Amino acid sequence: MTQEELFKVLVAHCKEYGFIFPSSEIYDGLAAVYDYGQMGVELKNNIKRYWWEAMTRLNENVVGIDSCVFMHPKVWVASGHVAAFNDPLIDNKDSKKRYRADVLIEDYLAKLEEKINKEVEKGRKKFAEGFDEEQFRSTNPNVLRIKSKYDEIHSRFVNASETNNLKELKDIIIDAEIVCPISGTKNWTDVRQFNLMFSTPISNTGEDDDRIYLRPETAQGIFVDYLNVQKTGRMKIPFGIAQIGKAFRNEIVARQFIFRMREFEQMEMEFFCRPGTEMEWFEKWKEQRMKWHVNLGMGEENYRFHDHEKLAHYANAAADIEFKFPFGFKELEGIHSRTDFDLGNHAKLSGKKIQYFDNETGTSYVPYCVETSIGVDRMFLAVLSNSYKVEELEGGESRVVLSIPAPLAPVKLAILPLVKKDGLPQLAQKIVDEVKFDFAYQYDEKDSIGKRYRRQDAIGTPFCVTIDHESLTDNCVTLRDRDTMSQERVPIDKLREIVDAKVNMRNLLKNL
Ligand code: GAP
Repeated sequence: MTQEELFKVLVAHCKEYGFIFPSSEIYDGLAAVYDYGQMGVELKNNIKRYWWEAMTRLNENVVGIDSCVFMHPKVWVASGHVAAFNDPLIDNKDSKKRYRADVLIEDYLAKLEEKINKEVEKGRKKFAEGFDEEQFRSTNPNVLRIKSKYDEIHSRFVNASETNNLKELKDIIIDAEIVCPISGTKNWTDVRQFNLMFSTPISNTGEDDDRIYLRPETAQGIFVDYLNVQKTGRMKIPFGIAQIGKAFRNEIVARQFIFRMREFEQMEMEFFCRPGTEMEWFEKWKEQRMKWHVNLGMGEENYRFHDHEKLAHYANAAADIEFKFPFGFKELEGIHSRTDFDLGNHAKLSGKKIQYFDNETGTSYVPYCVETSIGVDRMFLAVLSNSYKVEELEGGESRVVLSIPAPLAPVKLAILPLVKKDGLPQLAQKIVDEVKFDFAYQYDEKDSIGKRYRRQDAIGTPFCVTIDHESLTDNCVTLRDRDTMSQERVPIDKLREIVDAKVNMRNLLKNL
């Protein structure tokens, strides 16, 4: 299966097993908007809990808030979003399709990179053991030709992006002979800026002055509540404020399922520190956030840092944690050093004094800020795409299994009476009554035990408990492990302890 095919299968699996549905599907859906189903909401809540507890419980100096989606319109003027939260758009006149000009160029550059890698792989095969990759890359004529094209377009692209030169973006698209994937033509309009914020009238008049925005990031809620939290919580710098909540962006390139949505959820933490110490904290949070990811056991090799070449309007340093999605390494989380940009601008526009008096230095200042920002939905996609496996079994059969990290799994154990009679459902019910206070569980008595195991594998349940006739006399059950498929006989009164050891989030958090 190619990665693309795998991705299609994964999307279908998410729908079939109640993880994710297209929003308003009975009306043919709404582009880039998705609902979480009965399994999805559990997994999503577990991801949020892992983040929330890691942030607010394991760091004494990080507290949480829950601010509103609607905020005063001036918030978005101060934050720079009204003026600068734009995407450069271009339309193809033949297909009438709209694209982000920067994404068209980035995709083109990625294709050149792919071509170079293919040449390198050809060389590796040809020269086998004597292959010296570095030398090949610096001398092979094909590689050098593609590399020189790459370097030229890349440097023009970086310049055009930094200077917001829309004409140059179009010229790059023309010069690189980029065609519309639908019409195959180069018949492009000029590039225009398009603001990504949704707005809505807050009163009934519909006047422009009454329009407010749906927040495009949760961070601003933290900045405008900074003074309240600092004062009421008697917080001493350095300290952080964390928040999980919905954000909205009018994304034009809505692709890749829940990777880029119009309504999505963010988990953001703004860490306020003394000016001049921000780089130290930037490095510290980069390290901590990477540790949080790797701790899930989804493979260290699937993560990498990517330092930004083009900094956002508010940052003096920025790095992404990228994850290996089925469509390649892409941004999962952003870590930004936002300086005093936000607090400083809110102070100016609101006329309120936002200053911190530092007892240690005896000075007052606008705190600097380091931000960690991760999309819940992207994290969900990372977990699911990493977990989805089709395994060949003995006897020519196969199984689909989601090897979701056990503490994040939507259902922790399934209770399965072997037959629907002879007192087995009654004993199973007793076990349910014991475990339901500790674990999300499913009770299932339909179909053969093999089919029931497959259903649980497909939603990633770490344990299945089978109750058979012997259980009535020996008070033991068969416990099946999702990943190894091994089965062991365990006393009913040990069940809670054994399952807990693997699925409890406490153990995950203790490793951080
Ligand atoms: N406050 C900073 C900020 O919002 P960002 O890089 O624009 O920075 C942070 O977004 C994270 O939010 C991203 O790394 C990504 O995980 C998630 N995210 C951003 N736009 C998204 C979208 N349209 N759909 C899903 N997740 C998105």
